[in-house]
Amino acid sequence: EKQGDAYVIGFSQCTGDDEWRRAMLDGMQRELAFHNNAKLIFKDAHANSAVQVKQIEELLQSGIQLLIVSPNESDPLTPVIEKAYRKGIPVVVVDRRTSSPYYTAYVGGDNYQVGKTVGEYAATLLGGKGKMIEVTGLPRSSPASDRHRGLVDALATRPGIQRVATLNGQWEKDIAKKELRKALPNFPDLDLIFAQNEVMAKGAREVCNEIFPERKIRVIGVDGLPGQFGDIQMVYDGQITATALYPTGGEEAARVAMNILQKQPYQKENLLQTAIIDSSNVRMIKMQTDKMISQQNDIERQQARIDEQLEIYHTQRGLLYVMTGL
Ligand code: FRU
Repeated sequence: EKQGDAYVIGFSQCTGDDEWRRAMLDGMQRELAFHNNAKLIFKDAHANSAVQVKQIEELLQSGIQLLIVSPNESDPLTPVIEKAYRKGIPVVVVDRRTSSPYYTAYVGGDNYQVGKTVGEYAATLLGGKGKMIEVTGLPRSSPASDRHRGLVDALATRPGIQRVATLNGQWEKDIAKKELRKALPNFPDLDLIFAQNEVMAKGAREVCNEIFPERKIRVIGVDGLPGQFGDIQMVYDGQITATALYPTGGEEAARVAMNILQKQPYQKENLLQTAIIDSSNVRMIKMQTDKMISQQNDIERQQARIDEQLEIYHTQRGLLYVMTGL
């Protein structure tokens, strides 16, 4: 049911605890600010699948008109998301997928392509010969399995590159570090670590510095997050060799959601492309993303001013009514 004139959108996020997810939410809110009839209810499951199932149940009970969801793990979240869809609530899945075709639209990066591109890039970087470790995210989340598949396929035709270990870092910096501290001493001749996201890449660099301070093991990450603390800055500073862009899709998801709600055309599959960011292009990319951040801040400041003006208008309108009855 519509509440007043507003479209109420529920957004169930698997975890809100990192910069990449904050950027996704910011993007969504920026886009929705263009529609003064849209309201977003945000729930953060803090990387717990059972909590996320419960939060989606709550959102459905509260009468949302559309669900945006990034499922922590595919299988545990699939039934409740299917249930929403079958009830007639449109579902926009972002970034991580469910294991069923019952959703209205998907928005997110091409994770298979991310893994494949990194595999090809790593092989070129090492001149076709070398040893690498892969650090994955949660194995039951679709980006982890898709990135892994892409990597395996790329290396299948590059037999000189040996994947000596695959560690489960669960998308978390501390867990990745713990796993790497155990594994790294076994591979003194390691050439490269592929960490499946930016926080684990940061962790990988830290552990390499601890265990092999005299060696420069290459680290490749994923995300391409702009800003002071993002991995574009890490490439720029030479902390990591490269990162594969993985757009958050926040704006796009909100746009698709509004198209669905307003009965406008939309596509079911919205795949966002990847690209390698390394020393050859990072200066340019950093300049452009810094500029983008400052423009986004301008948009947010303008939005705040518009809200202020509207408030003044409504107060004056009210006063006019009291004084004149008009
Ligand atoms: C953020 C994150 C990203 C990664 C994505 C995969 O929570 O771990 O770093 O690319 O989720 O779903």
